Amino acid sequence: MRVRKAVLPAAGFGTRFLPASKAIPKEMMPLVDRPIIQYAVEEAVSAGIEQIIIVIASGRSAIEDHFDSDPGLERWLEERGDIELLRAVRRISEIGTIAFVHQKEQLGLGHAVLMAKELVGDEPFAVLLSDDVIVNPGGRPVTGQLIETYQAHRGSVIALQRVDRRDVSRYGVVAPRHEEGPLVEIGDLVEKPAVEDAPSDLAVLGRYVLSPKIFDVLESTPRGAGGEIQLTDAIRDLSHEQPVFGYQFSGVRHDAGTRIGWLQANIAMALESDDADELRAFVRGLDLRD
Ligand code: G1P
Repeated sequence: MRVRKAVLPAAGFGTRFLPASKAIPKEMMPLVDRPIIQYAVEEAVSAGIEQIIIVIASGRSAIEDHFDSDPGLERWLEERGDIELLRAVRRISEIGTIAFVHQKEQLGLGHAVLMAKELVGDEPFAVLLSDDVIVNPGGRPVTGQLIETYQAHRGSVIALQRVDRRDVSRYGVVAPRHEEGPLVEIGDLVEKPAVEDAPSDLAVLGRYVLSPKIFDVLESTPRGAGGEIQLTDAIRDLSHEQPVFGYQFSGVRHDAGTRIGWLQANIAMALESDDADELRAFVRGLDLRD
């Protein structure tokens, strides 16, 4: 079955970015020239996704506004003859079909995904956590890699990458049963284990292709780590009923979900942008001694 839909949860409190994220969802923080979430939307579209479902918190419309058209702004840019900016602004509202669902209570990532149940229906779908900005210059976007794996192996697929052992407690971590190239058969999955309890250094990194059966599982998933309904716990339970694979994707991942990670992502991505020379000169000129 084709994977046509993608769910992008964007309803968290953005605690790690407070107070910057008090009135603006953290997904709207800029990364070079676009809000963080736009990278995930563009990645999904370039992987062949036709419908994007963004889960937002009630009363927070900045994300909806961003993907809506803005005739006043477009007219103004047109009159000024600023064609390049006009194209960039128009492209956002023409990016694809985007639907929004509200999560009334912030009960966790699993609960946010469950909010998309009606819109996804009975078909496999992708999940992209926009905090994880993953670039694969010249190669297939990570979501595309997972969709291919889903189709080849007929099971849900989660994106994995090895992380520093000391950082495992920030992630969902898998206990691999068997590894064959990038494909990992999953024995177990734990959300945010203590470093000493982590079953491996293979972390779940913000991209999934899931069978719709996950919705039934999520409906009865109890609160887990941090008192939240965790997607990781539901995927672990799903793996007892249906095949679930891990896939060690190709691509560089930036953790734009933490302050330092976001700053690093901005620098790394700006160094690849059109203004790279000016930034490189600035960085070179910094006094980096302790
Ligand atoms: C979420 C998931 C976690 C995953 C991580 C990747 O955690 O719950 O399993 O490893 O994203 O970024 P969060 O970062 O929302 O705490």
